[in-house]
Amino acid sequence: MNRFTGGFLVLALLTVGAYSAALDGPINFFKLYDNPEAHVSLKGKETTADRTASHGYPSEHHHITTEDGYILGVFRIPYSHKLQNQNEKRPIVLLQHGLTSCSDAWILQGPNDGLPYMLADAGYDVWMGNARGTSYSRNHTTLSTENPIFWQFSWHEIAIYDITAIIDYALRTENGQGQDAIHYVGHSQGTTVYFALMSTIPAYNYKIKTAHLFAPVAIMKNLSSPLVRYLGPYLGHRNAYSILFGSQEFLPHNEFVMALFFNICQPDIMWRPVCEGAMKSLYSGGRVNMTAMPEAMATHPAGCSTDQMLHYLQEQQSGYFRQYDHGTKKNLQVYGSEEPPEYPVELINSLAHLWYADSDDLAAVEDVLQIANRMPNAVLHHMEDPEWNHGDFALNWEVRKYVNEPVIAIMEEYEIEYSRT
Ligand SMILES: *[C@@H]1O[C@H](CO)[C@@H](O)[C@H](O)[C@H]1NC(C)=O
Ligand SMILES: *[C@@H]1O[C@H](CO)[C@@H](O)[C@H](O)[C@H]1NC(C)=O
Ligand SMILES: *[C@@H]1O[C@H](CO)[C@@H](O)[C@H](O)[C@H]1NC(C)=O
Repeated sequence: MNRFTGGFLVLALLTVGAYSAALDGPINFFKLYDNPEAHVSLKGKETTADRTASHGYPSEHHHITTEDGYILGVFRIPYSHKLQNQNEKRPIVLLQHGLTSCSDAWILQGPNDGLPYMLADAGYDVWMGNARGTSYSRNHTTLSTENPIFWQFSWHEIAIYDITAIIDYALRTENGQGQDAIHYVGHSQGTTVYFALMSTIPAYNYKIKTAHLFAPVAIMKNLSSPLVRYLGPYLGHRNAYSILFGSQEFLPHNEFVMALFFNICQPDIMWRPVCEGAMKSLYSGGRVNMTAMPEAMATHPAGCSTDQMLHYLQEQQSGYFRQYDHGTKKNLQVYGSEEPPEYPVELINSLAHLWYADSDDLAAVEDVLQIANRMPNAVLHHMEDPEWNHGDFALNWEVRKYVNEPVIAIMEEYEIEYSRT
């Protein structure tokens, strides 16, 4: 069976399933293929705040409502119990996770190596965001997560609604009064949303002191991940596959999505190693802190909308960093053009440090350089370890030395320079 007949077999099965269910009225794919046990539930589970508190740090859990009604669970280490600096003005920093990840990713390596803890102990007011749809942000003022409309968003909406809401909320707190800008740190999708926000609503550049973008993902032309390159032609365009796959909750337990994903991904035995190796390849250098793995597995994947994945696959196919492709007809309605508009990254004039690596198979060096060349205030930091990969920014056992310490040093330099005035 070749890959095309394999894919079409899945479609045929889905069509039969949908047809039989259609006797009860309009097809609701979500209900039809959804497994009720598939959803992330926080009941009885430890949160990021529980974990940071267990290490002795002051911990807060905030619920932040976005302009379009999503309610985000955002965590905060407001000050350091070691410094007892709660009555001083603390510079604010926001950490934003990657795709299928969540705030827990930042604290997996514990108080000695984890960036949030190190920042708190350096005197910062630390916020950890959670994008809509992740374990901590499955809440809305009117929509249930069982309503497919809840899942109609990509990272564009995370950028312009979620990130803006978190920044403004942090600046409105008591510590935020009198401050008008924050430091930002993003990993992977946490960088994509930065590029999308700062080019779409350029006024937000003035709310940034320094930004640190780990494994920056925007243009994806030279990306080497075999899985993404393989899926791109199927799902990176408006077609029957992507319509079926779109606007769903993506989790390994969602049988409908996973059946579709894996049947497209491995219709024949040849591609099986590609899929299985996808996770492993994120840490190809073999310098992962294995002690942190059990906690990583317990907290990931944290969920997302399949539209976020489709949007990335569209970028990989088109070679452009641009808005979501709804297909010609809807693009004309939404954007007034047949093709989605490109993000004007030339407008990102905030001070953006891009941290990138040769072995990153989701953020190719050529693509990072291309985006950086178009940004007026980009500073490049090339990781010297040739085996440094996408996941190393989170779980390499030397993140403290190679990433966290230099990042904090840059923030400190900024703070010292601007406190003199
Ligand atoms: C690895 O992760 C564990 C668990 O969070 C942590 O205790 C340890 O300090 C981390 N770093 C190294 C270098 O082992
Ligand atoms: C959803 O948000 C509301 C309003 O902040 C809150 O009261 C409720 O506990 C949240 N529900 C969940 C499941 O987080
Ligand atoms: C990157 O893309 C350019 C332009 O498409 C191409 O010429 C080059 O060979 C690619 N490099 C790699 C390593 O894929």
